[in-house]
Amino acid sequence: MTNEPIDETLSDLLELNQQLLDSIATADWETYERLCDPTLSAFEPEARGQLVEGMEFHRFYFDLDGDDKPKQSTIASPHVRLLADNVAIVSFVRLVQSVDAEGNPQSSRCDETRVWERQDGVWQHVHFHRSVNA
Ligand code: GLY
Repeated sequence: MTNEPIDETLSDLLELNQQLLDSIATADWETYERLCDPTLSAFEPEARGQLVEGMEFHRFYFDLDGDDKPKQSTIASPHVRLLADNVAIVSFVRLVQSVDAEGNPQSSRCDETRVWERQDGVWQHVHFHRSVNA
């Protein structure tokens, strides 16, 4: 058990979640890998309905990302549920601002559920599910 106040744990989890999204936006593989368990499992549109496990599937996109156009992710309507002192679910709407080929700013959104597990005192991202609804 940990004596950390629950509010602090919830805000730590949101902060870690934002770091994770920022690492994706900036193609910062080192940070993404540090925040994730190597056995990370995921459902996301890129996987076409398949559950993917491990990091290699995700690394492909980090290796591709060669442009330096600005990209920013904002966590909207977050909901954090602590299932135990070492397991949490973070659900939210992710707003992504980017710039298209003509230099015009654009926004997209998706729904995400991300599961975190505290392993030996360190929160690790262990599963996520992303859906695009609009
Ligand atoms: N596609 C990587 C992630 O959303 O975590």
